[in-house]
Amino acid sequence: MIVALPDDPARGASVPDKFFRSVLPGEPRELPKIDTSVAHIARVYDYWLGGKDNFAIDREVGQKALQAHPETVLSVQANRRFLARSVRHLAAEEGVRQFLDVGTGLPSANNTHEVAQAVAPETRVFYVDNDPIVLAHARALLTSSAEGETAYLDADLKNVDEILAGAGQVLDFSQPVGVMLVAVLHLLRDDEDPQGVVDRLMAAVPAGSFLVISHLASDIQQEAMAEMGRRLNQEMTQQFTMRSRAQVTRFFDGLTLLDPGVVLTHQWRPGSEAEAATPGVLWAGAARKG
Ligand SMILES: C[S@@+](CC[C@H](N)C(=O)[O-])C[C@H]1O[C@@H](n2cnc3c(N)ncnc32)[C@H](O)[C@@H]1O
Repeated sequence: MIVALPDDPARGASVPDKFFRSVLPGEPRELPKIDTSVAHIARVYDYWLGGKDNFAIDREVGQKALQAHPETVLSVQANRRFLARSVRHLAAEEGVRQFLDVGTGLPSANNTHEVAQAVAPETRVFYVDNDPIVLAHARALLTSSAEGETAYLDADLKNVDEILAGAGQVLDFSQPVGVMLVAVLHLLRDDEDPQGVVDRLMAAVPAGSFLVISHLASDIQQEAMAEMGRRLNQEMTQQFTMRSRAQVTRFFDGLTLLDPGVVLTHQWRPGSEAEAATPGVLWAGAARKG
């Protein structure tokens, strides 16, 4: 278990072991157990993004998926750019200074806190993921600006109460929060009640908060996408459930969608012609509460 070393001892007393706000360089720690015999989506995604934090099995499964849907590489890049654009928009245009980012993924270029703190250094970001490899690399997500704060919790998106209890120690739930569910809801099956998870998270944040979602599409390039999903689901313990634009739009029920609504990632406020031209197969949107 990574040692929790909160920099405020008074507040840190009630912090659970696996929740940490800072880790001192050189501090002895027990690394989480990483299973290298089964592919994990965090590592397959890292492979598609050209990262180095993946194993042979992740590359093998990632390759099989690419054979079914070669555009996946461009699509994950488009998703990553959507993540950065939506965070920048919330920070720069909507004044959001707190983010709850669930399904963080392995550290990559333009992590949420880097994009947000480039706009407003005082921004606080609470990261959550349930993969041991993301926990092992979480130190790289804790490079907050001095004025802001970052924290990481090893937890499952389905455990909303645990996430809210942890986040409540870093984020102020009386102020707007940007809730980021980017490329993660398709890893919850229908019987795991993704709508209920979204609703409970959004019920906990005040008016003026935002929900950002991207989600693999079931109604775009249907045959290739279905085959890619089949190949991934055969080999991974995590299972993909792709959803249609209408199903993804329903996640935003009760909120006010920002323009241009729910569109493919590259169509959501592209920052350049190149971004607009990079095809994505994930539906994406952002919406305001209240
Ligand atoms: C495809 S990656 C997306 C990373 C990042 N949000 C992005 O869009 O670049 C999905 C991440 O969600 C995490 N994840 C999957 N199921 C989860 C769950 N039930 N609870 C928490 N995290 C989960 C995986 O471990 C992985 O790191």
